[in-house]
Amino acid sequence: MAYRVMLVERDRLMLEQLSQTIRKTAGFELVARYQNPSEALGQGSVFQPNLILLDVEGTTGSNLLTEFHSTYDGVAILCMGEQWQAERASHYVQAGAKGYIVKPFTSEELKEAVDTFARSGMEVGAETITFFSPKGKSGKTTLIANLALALARTTHEQVGIIDADLQFGDMAVFFNLSPASTIVEAVRDVRFLSPVTLAQYFMPVTQNVHVLCGTRTPNLIDRVSIPAFEEIIRMAQSLYRYVLIDVPQAFNPTAIAAAELSDITYLVAMLNDGYEIQHMQRAMEIFEDWPDYEQRALPIFTRVTPCGVARQQELSRQLGYRVAAVIPNAYNVVSAAADKGRMAVDIEPGSELTKFVTKLALDISRGKRHQAEEDA
Ligand SMILES: Nc1ncnc2c1ncn2[C@@H]1O[C@H](COP(=O)(O)OP(=O)(O)O)[C@@H](O)[C@H]1O
Ligand SMILES: [Mg+2]
Repeated sequence: MAYRVMLVERDRLMLEQLSQTIRKTAGFELVARYQNPSEALGQGSVFQPNLILLDVEGTTGSNLLTEFHSTYDGVAILCMGEQWQAERASHYVQAGAKGYIVKPFTSEELKEAVDTFARSGMEVGAETITFFSPKGKSGKTTLIANLALALARTTHEQVGIIDADLQFGDMAVFFNLSPASTIVEAVRDVRFLSPVTLAQYFMPVTQNVHVLCGTRTPNLIDRVSIPAFEEIIRMAQSLYRYVLIDVPQAFNPTAIAAAELSDITYLVAMLNDGYEIQHMQRAMEIFEDWPDYEQRALPIFTRVTPCGVARQQELSRQLGYRVAAVIPNAYNVVSAAADKGRMAVDIEPGSELTKFVTKLALDISRGKRHQAEEDA
């Protein structure tokens, strides 16, 4: 079905330019266009548009949106402005718009914008999760990659991964991707990006899982500024239902910025010699500064054998904090999968790893932060 577009744009030259773009975009038909919003409200309905592109530059948009909604009941409205700003975009969406697009836009950007709200809808808030490790080699990249696939499979929602582990980022290797663009280019271009254009910097792994890959060489890390990184996260939040962020080990500005913008920060450690408990305790103490840390900073142990609820409870007791999840030792599964450039959850759907990762995915999608005592 073609979109029947009504274009409302105050600036005459811009109206011309956008009209041309819409006319040449496959699947879009320009059925009406107005410079004056009140004319659009008074006369436009005879053309039966099912998509309204509404210029809101320089206005709060609230009154306009209310009027357009009551005249065009059930018609999708996409607000247009000159610059991407996360707060304004979310304000328009709260006021009833389906999304926000930066003008002038290309045919590809228009299609992508409409696909995006048709697919996930900008209106749904994203659940953002940072994966932090007190020490290196924690199993967090393995966990994120498998969890992303499990979340997409169980919820059928869009999942975006941001590889911000700027020195040891290996998400691309994990998924066997040769990224055309990485977080470095995204950060470089952020001032000119909107969520729709940012989407093109993410590489598809499956239909529902996309990755913004890390830097190709560690010396590019200085090119990632914190405010730009934060803006990338906010944009990703309007593109994906779940945003999973792989951050560098230990506390540095990147990890802190991601954690501050996240609903949950998982602290991930791999059981090895027993010192992990102390490392985890020290890391958790730092997060205690957050008044709501019990809901937002949650420990996970990987390579746990034997793995199960009893062990989870025992680890919680030793640690003095409730452990959110335990991930079994999956060395064979993980390395066999890595050899084939695919993730373990896809290769071994019946494995222990898949079972525990899927359980965590279900907890996340149901908003459950702690599982142990309910299952016990
Ligand atoms: N659950 C697990 N059980 C056993 N080995 C694991 C597990 N998760 C990861 N590994 C192995 O540990 C190493 C580090 O894993 P990785 O996910 O890259 O950790 P990080 O991102 O913390 O550096 C890899 O060789 C990986 O195969
Ligand atoms: Mg890693």
